[in-house]
Amino acid sequence: MLFEITCFGLGALGLASTAVKLPENHVTKLQKVFENTGLVAKVNGTVHRPRVIKKCRTEYGLHLTIKLPAGLCMTDFLKRQEEIEDYLNCEVDMEMKKHLHMYLYTHELKGYYPFKMADLEGELPFVVGYSKEGRLTADLAEFPHLLVAGETYGGKSVFLHQLIAQLMPHNVKLFVIDRARVEFAYLQNHAWFEHTMSGSIKMLQYLENEMKKRMEIFVKAGVEKIQEYHKKGYNLPYYVLVIDEFSQLSPKLNKDEKKQRETAHSHLVNLLCLARKVGIHVVLATQRPDRDILPGQLKANIPATVCFKVRNEVNSRICLDNDKAYYLPRIKGHAIYQFDKDRRIQVMHLDVSKARKLLPETTKTKPQKPADKKPPKPKKEGDIPIISQ
Ligand SMILES: Nc1ncnc2c1ncn2[C@@H]1O[C@H](COP(=O)(O)OP(=O)(O)OP(=O)(O)O)[C@@H](O)[C@H]1O
Ligand SMILES: [Mg+2]
Repeated sequence: MLFEITCFGLGALGLASTAVKLPENHVTKLQKVFENTGLVAKVNGTVHRPRVIKKCRTEYGLHLTIKLPAGLCMTDFLKRQEEIEDYLNCEVDMEMKKHLHMYLYTHELKGYYPFKMADLEGELPFVVGYSKEGRLTADLAEFPHLLVAGETYGGKSVFLHQLIAQLMPHNVKLFVIDRARVEFAYLQNHAWFEHTMSGSIKMLQYLENEMKKRMEIFVKAGVEKIQEYHKKGYNLPYYVLVIDEFSQLSPKLNKDEKKQRETAHSHLVNLLCLARKVGIHVVLATQRPDRDILPGQLKANIPATVCFKVRNEVNSRICLDNDKAYYLPRIKGHAIYQFDKDRRIQVMHLDVSKARKLLPETTKTKPQKPADKKPPKPKKEGDIPIISQ
């Protein structure tokens, strides 16, 4: 059944401002779910229900304004969000202004978005993907590090290719570790690229030293973060380190090269913990988001996550603190993007051959590898000299 409603004053959300016809379905269902989950207030035996006072169709579904009875607040609804979403079979967002505003995302995402270079404002801006609200953008300089996780063939490497393509034109130097060697080798002339363990350690050590140098520079310049340093007129590039399948550097995965893996891991932890303000950002991808590979200490320092479908609920909880990535449909490039909140996204598709064509002929993104020096003598037994391969 359809009924007429009128919307007004919601321009900022891109909502229709004329009378539209809405299916009654979701509103009726919503009232049922409120009733069934106890989202009603009872005063002296009388039941007071939340009342939908305004309904608008939006680009992405429905926007409902709901008047709450005394005794209910948004937290009560947030606690029931999962039940509400399951019952309505769509994602729901909420915000409290004078009344409770509920956004129901009833439109399905497309399964494929080809890569498009966007002209965006910001220091290291990029399109994360498409959500039901449309194109979703972020700035890597705003959240220091990013985790990309998910089972094999989910779309992690494609995400990295399109992220790199978007970052290249900015004031950035790129560092890539790909122990599988093949997939990111096309970046060899545009990034400091490593595939060996010793090369990876050397790169991580270099970045840690650079981090310490930058900290000193910032103290002398009286600034706290790179953005302030830039405002003083200095040019200091952002450094972005991308590690595809970083479990290959984890001491827990494999007992071979244990000492080297421990060294790599400790450099990585230092970078994740301390490099945030000095313009060094880390993007870590893994198929294996389990506790061994991604201990709480690492995860706690990575505030943003793109999580494709994972094998089990535990993996999803490790990445997102909820099981949403386990219940994602098996669509390539489909993921949950978590920063301030969770959003389902479809990542833009970019294959390697196209990514290669997007590379500039000469690049400012290639960092100068430090010249190979003779390996220092180990000071004591167990110290690992750095030998380039
Ligand atoms: N955003 C996307 N849109 C459409 N198709 C995609 C997308 N991402 C990946 N695919 C398809 O899925 C395939 C596997 O993607 P990708 O290599 O990125 O997976 P992966 O997660 O890196 O896997 P692995 O863990 O094995 O390295 C791609 O070759 C591509 O065909
Ligand atoms: Mg991959």
